[in-house]
Amino acid sequence: MSTYGTLFRVTTFGESHCASVGAIIDGCPPGLEISAQDIQIQLSRRRPGQSDLTTPRNEKDLVQLQSGLEMGVTLGTPIALLVRNEDQRPHDYTETDLYPRPSHADYTYLEKYGIKASSGGGRSSARETIGRVAAGAIAEKYLKLAYGIEIVAFVSSVGKVHLPAGMAPPSLSPINPDEEDDTAHDALSKDFVTLLGTISREEVDKHPTRCPHPETAERMTKRIIRAKNAQDSIGGTVTCVIRNIPSGLGEPVFDKFEASLAHAMLSIPATKAFEIGSGFRGTEVPGSQHNDPFVRDASGGLRTATNWSGGVQGGITNGENVYFRIGFKSPATISQAQETAQYDGTPGSLATRGRHDPCVVPRAVPIVEAMAAIVVMDQLLIQNSRKSAATLLPPITTLPPTMVLQKTLKVEQTPKDS
Ligand SMILES: Cc1cc2nc3c(=O)[nH]c(=O)nc-3n(C[C@H](O)[C@H](O)[C@H](O)COP(=O)(O)O)c2cc1C
Repeated sequence: MSTYGTLFRVTTFGESHCASVGAIIDGCPPGLEISAQDIQIQLSRRRPGQSDLTTPRNEKDLVQLQSGLEMGVTLGTPIALLVRNEDQRPHDYTETDLYPRPSHADYTYLEKYGIKASSGGGRSSARETIGRVAAGAIAEKYLKLAYGIEIVAFVSSVGKVHLPAGMAPPSLSPINPDEEDDTAHDALSKDFVTLLGTISREEVDKHPTRCPHPETAERMTKRIIRAKNAQDSIGGTVTCVIRNIPSGLGEPVFDKFEASLAHAMLSIPATKAFEIGSGFRGTEVPGSQHNDPFVRDASGGLRTATNWSGGVQGGITNGENVYFRIGFKSPATISQAQETAQYDGTPGSLATRGRHDPCVVPRAVPIVEAMAAIVVMDQLLIQNSRKSAATLLPPITTLPPTMVLQKTLKVEQTPKDS
């Protein structure tokens, strides 16, 4: 459906070539100061036409705040956010009247609904993600003000061009490595951990690819331009870190924190893979190296010495940085001719006109950040309601101390050092 969340509920609306797209948020706490600029910053990072690495569709994507605020302060009532589609070209894709685009959503939407938008991707278009990004910016503002939570995503690979080994997220070993060698080597290197702890959006945005390593960013640019010149496309990965996140978030068993993150991330168009912490690499590292031992933190509590878990254990955040990686496929719409079949089964060749992203990952960065913020916001509101309900009960003194958390039953306000 078009709604995500339990207590922070985001409903998005709109198709690629309709009058407007946007979101309605229900459950935003009252008393939060929000300006259009707070939202516009992220929308502008998502918008098309940012560089010659993205689709030339010309949209300013200016947000209008329709309801739920007065004098720039949220009222606790539903917030409606609207962005007008300006550069609609409903007849740009006439070949697709005859052909379902291979690996796009034309065929499956028609099979499902028995009707589909006349042009573009309709609801499956990345225009839909505008509503997510706008809603995510509001969630993020709350998270930053209330908890100091920081969310930063960056491009970690384009095609086979990856961040240098030390800075890259853990990944699988090359095919047929020495199977007797259990050493984790630099799978979770110090440089990668430092990058997660320090990376900022300013740094990410220094290069249009949104890769924080200048030489790699240049190679990624070349790779995207090569795909574009060949009238082809190429995929990539986005890595994201959530810092200063309190422990205790996530709802076992079906809404574990990583399950909710995976749900949110895999709902973004063109996603094909999600991994958290050590991810697939964790399958190759023995438990003796993979476990995250506990150590005493500065305030006398516990934290972990390493973070292969990616900040989540048992589906619940443990206060360490949460980090994860998402795989985006090579976009389906390409101008190069492809042998395929028409809706009626007639074989033929499709070369799609229209405007396309040769690679989606630079524009996907703010979408990933937005979905992360929406997940954290929802899980925080759920955990806080449980905690505040528990504090109203008289203390129980009959239980053995080993059964009860010795601190308080409050969500920690003070984040652990990252
Ligand atoms: C930021 C962004 C931009 C996208 N641009 C395009 C595009 O120009 N052409 C295209 O075919 N797909 C594009 N996509 C992906 C399609 O929307 C997506 O592949 C399609 O809806 C099919 O869904 P699926 O890939 O999730 O199965 C984009 C996705 C994102 C996140």
